[in-house]
Amino acid sequence: MTAQPGTRVLQTDRDAIAAAAACLAQGGLVAFPTETVYGLGAAAGNGEAIARLYAAKGRPAFNPLIAHVADAAAARRLAVFDDAATRLAAAFWPGPLTLVLPKRTDCGVADLALAGLDSVAVRVPAHPVAAALLKAFNGPVVAPSANRSGHVSPTDAAHVLHDLRGRIDLIIDSGPCTVGVESTIVSCLGEPTLLRPGGLPREDIERALNRALAIPAVAEETPLAPGMLASHYAPKARLRLDAQAPRADEALLAFGPAPAFFGTTLNLSARGDLIEAATNLFSHLRALDACGATTIAVMPVPHEGLGEAINDRLARAAAPR
Ligand code: TXA
Ligand code: MG
Repeated sequence: MTAQPGTRVLQTDRDAIAAAAACLAQGGLVAFPTETVYGLGAAAGNGEAIARLYAAKGRPAFNPLIAHVADAAAARRLAVFDDAATRLAAAFWPGPLTLVLPKRTDCGVADLALAGLDSVAVRVPAHPVAAALLKAFNGPVVAPSANRSGHVSPTDAAHVLHDLRGRIDLIIDSGPCTVGVESTIVSCLGEPTLLRPGGLPREDIERALNRALAIPAVAEETPLAPGMLASHYAPKARLRLDAQAPRADEALLAFGPAPAFFGTTLNLSARGDLIEAATNLFSHLRALDACGATTIAVMPVPHEGLGEAINDRLARAAAPR
């Protein structure tokens, strides 16, 4: 991939990590890989950098950001952990789990990044490049997904460049993300509650807690986890869900054995594997969108494991807007 004016693209190596950490320290905006999706990072204490981040994404400023840290010890400097949070952090960090916790008054995360909430969302990513960057920067990095607000999340550096070229300082290109859907968000402000299904299956979390997760009893518009707004993950094309067979003028997003079809087809996983499907979800949506179809027929995806997050993103992408 070649560099674009204003946005440096660096291949992963030690120099890239050092350059990215320095860029963050100077208030720059750095897109970096995590195991879920690419994030757009800014120093968590730098309100001005965070304001530029919102502007680069075109994100409504009421939508709070996740603070990414290198390890659980660093997370404890930002937030208060109860028993459930302690157990989840021990079981799943580093990994695709974000915990919403009461913030510590001395957490040092800019109010702008927290949208004025008393809570903070904290995550310890497992991707080695994210881990190395957080270690080199040696402080919390707030990072939403590195896409324009309302677009599907980027699962490789080309997606980031497509959405944000010229609007951010640097991209670390480490190839495609392995998980492919965003982290699962669990609130531990009271009873552990599933705010967003994601890359860590709900069943794994419930097994670790030995109890069911609560589901938030709030309207879609309440900015409890504003990324849950109905039409958040949106390609330009309309989506027709649970399609058994595509119509002639549609593109097809298949799962499992696909029907014979002459139109454009991409398969989330021909062998019906939900992990593979999650990895392919956003890149296939982008690719089918780019082929110009006005409607994408989407075959049914089973609801267990990562299927919950996949169906959640598909339902949002299909929501009227
Ligand atoms: O996998 C991920 O989580 C990726 C990578 C980059 O880490 N990040 C990501 O960030 O998906 P973003 O900003 O696209 O989604 C974060 C979600 C938003 O829906 C936001 O509203 C919610 O987390 N959130 C952040 N802080 C919150 C808080 N204090 N309470 C409730 N929800 C919160
Ligand atoms: Mg996002």
